Amino acid sequence: MRPAATQPSGDTSMKPASDKWTAQRIRALKGHGPFACATAVDAVTARWVDDAGFPLTLVGDSLGMTVLGFDTTLPVTMEQMLHHVAAVVRGSKRAMVVADMPFLSYHATPAEAVANAGRFLKEAGADAVKVEGGAFRAATVKTLVENGIPVMGHIGLLPQNVRTMGGYRVQGRRPAEAARLAADADALEEAGIFALVLEGMPPAVAGRISRRCGVPTIGIGAGPRCDGQILVIHDLLGLTETPPPKFVRRYASLGASARRALAAYGRDVRAGRFPSPEHCY
Ligand code: KIV
Repeated sequence: MRPAATQPSGDTSMKPASDKWTAQRIRALKGHGPFACATAVDAVTARWVDDAGFPLTLVGDSLGMTVLGFDTTLPVTMEQMLHHVAAVVRGSKRAMVVADMPFLSYHATPAEAVANAGRFLKEAGADAVKVEGGAFRAATVKTLVENGIPVMGHIGLLPQNVRTMGGYRVQGRRPAEAARLAADADALEEAGIFALVLEGMPPAVAGRISRRCGVPTIGIGAGPRCDGQILVIHDLLGLTETPPPKFVRRYASLGASARRALAAYGRDVRAGRFPSPEHCY
């Protein structure tokens, strides 16, 4: 680091030259009030999230459902994720871009996890990866971090485990389950994660984990006592019109607006109102 006296404009802070969010800066958000994050799937949605000033954009494998038309995240491939992550990176300036590792891309061996996670950083330009799973995933997380790949953890409701969970079920309702989730958070923190997604658990359980965890927790369906919140962009903007899960607040109805706009365009073309003189060369 340069000595303070040589920094431009008398800036003696330790922040990096650019205002790009890093794993270190996200980690430092712990205890500084709740922050918002969102997913993005392409350069357009990435720009929206980045311009909102959110520190972190997740390219979630939920895009398998919101964009690719699958029923679950399970069919999503590395190649599909690389394509979307690269687009989100191109649309992002300041937000840290986290690539969600798809089902079975990090499960078999830590070596396979490093090879696949490395592709997100090297080929797509991502800043970090996210993996689902608790204590049983800690060895893989440790190997990724030791090899220079920042990792965001994800515990609670694990969409990639939908088949073994028997559906999308809230986790941690029973005391033993809640204790297991707390142990999962401890193991992942010990393995070196910089942030932890808590999905689908009672607020009291998420609050207890957030208090003991040294890195920021980012909740989705986990109540208000997390350090941050994340929502899937299609849910929060109302891009998809199926009723959203209980934990979503819709801030817009873009799907309905798009339908109205397309219907108006169709009517104008059929009635000869478009194109009009101002649209002609
Ligand atoms: O895939 C995704 O969008 C996610 C969020 C639900 C955290 O993992």
